[in-house]
Amino acid sequence: MPPLISIENVRKTFGSGASLVDAFGPVSLDIEEGQFVSLLGPSGCGKSTLMLMLAGLLDVTSGQIIVDGKAVKAPQTDVGIMFQDNTLVPWRTVRGNVDLQLEMRGLDPRRYKDRVLDLLGQVKLLDFADRFPHELSGGMQQRAAFCQAMVHDPHIMLLDEPLGKLDAMTRESIRTDLQSLWMTRRPTVIFVTHSIEEAVQLSSQVAVITPRPGRIDRLIDINLPFPRDLGVKNSPEFISHVREIQEIFRGYGVI
Ligand SMILES: Nc1ncnc2c1ncn2[C@@H]1O[C@H](COP(=O)(O)OP(=O)(O)O)[C@@H](O)[C@H]1O
Ligand SMILES: [Mg+2]
Repeated sequence: MPPLISIENVRKTFGSGASLVDAFGPVSLDIEEGQFVSLLGPSGCGKSTLMLMLAGLLDVTSGQIIVDGKAVKAPQTDVGIMFQDNTLVPWRTVRGNVDLQLEMRGLDPRRYKDRVLDLLGQVKLLDFADRFPHELSGGMQQRAAFCQAMVHDPHIMLLDEPLGKLDAMTRESIRTDLQSLWMTRRPTVIFVTHSIEEAVQLSSQVAVITPRPGRIDRLIDINLPFPRDLGVKNSPEFISHVREIQEIFRGYGVI
């Protein structure tokens, strides 16, 4: 089976002449269906740039990205996207915000009612389905945004630091929810984070990216069994992966 996503020698530069910025690459990476792949790299190495290119929202400068056998040349529809700042609108309830994703895709929310409730239940938001975003904590808002990004059952989820603005404790608890959402539907997830522990806990593979222009330094398989709760952090394999990645970043001089 060919990989679901093939990033082939992809490079991105911005501007030209003296103001040219070498933002990313060249990078080649194959991602198999159903994987949870973290992109872990220093700030400014081009992670968000890659996410936008994967979504078809930004052109590659050279190389190509193949998804499901086809070169990405336009905005992709079979993806769920989430960024650090969520896309909940303030004038709709939680349920209304999730429905918005369906409406924008021309899908009938009435047909998805059970799925919406199921998703909200999975992230413990059922009691808040009829509340507005300002009535929720930051963690609850991001949980709602996960449901919004997943409700149409996308094949691929692009998550660009979705937990970045949350406090450490909320982050811990929301990871479990994210993992359970992934395990139930098994979309292929590409997840950007700055946290080494978060990447090792959640991922089946971690791609360690160099400082700008980002290149993949190491692709590390994390073979610990899922689900992984907090306890996994005490396992020797977890600890050794974290140390291994810390050493790489120490080598770059970024920690
Ligand atoms: N639209 C743009 N125009 C010019 N430079 C950009 C643009 N977008 C990103 N960059 C530059 O590309 C590099 C990578 O940015 P980004 O992908 O946001 O990094 P990351 O998400 O890893 O922090 C940075 O140096 C950034 O300043
Ligand atoms: Mg970024």
